[in-house]
Amino acid sequence: MQDDLDRILIHETTILSRLDQLAAQISADYRERELTVIAVLNGSLMFMADLLRRIPRPLKLDCLSVASYHGKAETSGEVIFKQIAMPDVMGRHILILDDILDSGHTLAAIRDKLETAKPLSVRVCVLLSKKKTRARAVHADYVGFEIEDEFVVGYGLDFMERYRNLPYIGVLRNDLIKEPA
Ligand code: IMP
Ligand code: MG
Repeated sequence: MQDDLDRILIHETTILSRLDQLAAQISADYRERELTVIAVLNGSLMFMADLLRRIPRPLKLDCLSVASYHGKAETSGEVIFKQIAMPDVMGRHILILDDILDSGHTLAAIRDKLETAKPLSVRVCVLLSKKKTRARAVHADYVGFEIEDEFVVGYGLDFMERYRNLPYIGVLRNDLIKEPA
């Protein structure tokens, strides 16, 4: 799999030490409020598992499954909610966890949907945020790393459902992203 990468962008040890910092910040911010984490699958799986184990506080966990990509390296803007039941958010302090903030479509749609269910508060935590102009403005309250606008894989992030199991984050080779003619 490493041959498919242009380069490694963020090493595993760097990811994990940044998670120590994020977890400490989140634990301090929610010291007096019980947290309900809503993780956006599948991309946030590794991030969720490693981050939440660093938060030594009572919390509830729910997962959402959405799709916006349809297998291409560009977002379609249409966000489909794949599960039937929405997590219970009424009267709770919600922290949405996602792998990456790119165009903003996914997180904006999730945020809008959860807000209709009357939570007490909603914050957003992403492992990665691309430096770019977004189609929809989304404020991320917690950001692991700001990255350039390049297509990355690994540590949960996929290209056509592959590379999620890489323990680090790498930039995918450009020739692999191009669609076959
Ligand atoms: P957005 O709706 O464009 O913000 O995209 C969010 C979703 O697109 C993420 O949750 C990822 O699943 C996917 N995505 C965006 N950029 C990348 C990338 O560089 N690598 C892998 N997946 C990405
Ligand atoms: Mg994806």
